[in-house]
Amino acid sequence: MTDSDTNHNLRTGKLIGASLGPGDPGLITRRAWQYLHSDAVWTFPVRRKGGRSFALDIALRAGAGVPAESIPLVFPMTHDAEKLARHWLLAAETVLQLLYLGRDVVFLVEGDASTYSTWNHLSRTVRALDDRIELETIAGVSSFQAATARLRMPLADVDDTVAVLPAAYGVDAVERLLPEFDTLVLLKVKPLLDDLIDLLARRNLLQHACFVEKVGAVEERVVRDVVSLRGQKVNYLSLLLVRNPQRNKGERLRGCRKKTDTDPAMEMEEDASA
Ligand SMILES: C[S@@+](CC[C@H](N)C(=O)[O-])C[C@H]1O[C@@H](n2cnc3c(N)ncnc32)[C@H](O)[C@@H]1O
Repeated sequence: MTDSDTNHNLRTGKLIGASLGPGDPGLITRRAWQYLHSDAVWTFPVRRKGGRSFALDIALRAGAGVPAESIPLVFPMTHDAEKLARHWLLAAETVLQLLYLGRDVVFLVEGDASTYSTWNHLSRTVRALDDRIELETIAGVSSFQAATARLRMPLADVDDTVAVLPAAYGVDAVERLLPEFDTLVLLKVKPLLDDLIDLLARRNLLQHACFVEKVGAVEERVVRDVVSLRGQKVNYLSLLLVRNPQRNKGERLRGCRKKTDTDPAMEMEEDASA
């Protein structure tokens, strides 16, 4: 029997995207924790060879022991599509080799794995190479959910509308959304922070904005006086939350609530179940 025959008879492993939350080890779900203690091989994203992994740091701070088999996968921060595709392929091939040996592979992800995450690139590329691979995405707490909780502000209240967007689309795009959304979650704000502050000042929204950096990590920083950040270099792991009292609240044509003309208590009851 050849090596390839032997491998062929093995069960193919499963690939798991384990969301670890944005930094506070207490926000790791029980399901992700279970996989950190299984015999799955750990993999985690780094920006460059030898670079640090924030996702791995979260697991370490939670007290999970790194298994002997743990493999960094390089996901560079670049807009160079060719370079990105090359690294996604390399990462997917590395993972596939382990899966074909029958090993389960857990990919550690900062925040929520479905939200602007390297997990999306990895899982998509693996499935493009072999669509029989079993995948599991473990849901997690995203940075902005943790940030709103940290600030004790609602992400969405009653019939609020919420926009989540990478600020890279520019201040014009953010401004265009203002009439439609009660809450704006601006991610990846680092390169545009000064322009965003100018926009907030121009639209009279400074008192409704808050900046949060590395939420849940030891270095967490919350800045309510966002103007004080002008000219400062901030960490890539930072975001802006803006509550927008200027949203045009149009008429709701249809909702889940019952008509309440005669019985306002009914409306309260429906909300209380959410
Ligand atoms: C590639 S996205 C990853 C989003 C992540 N998967 C999530 O669920 O929040 C990176 C952006 O998310 C935000 N972010 C991620 N982690 C953060 C943290 N711990 N504190 C503040 N912002 C964070 C920042 O805006 C950062 O530029």
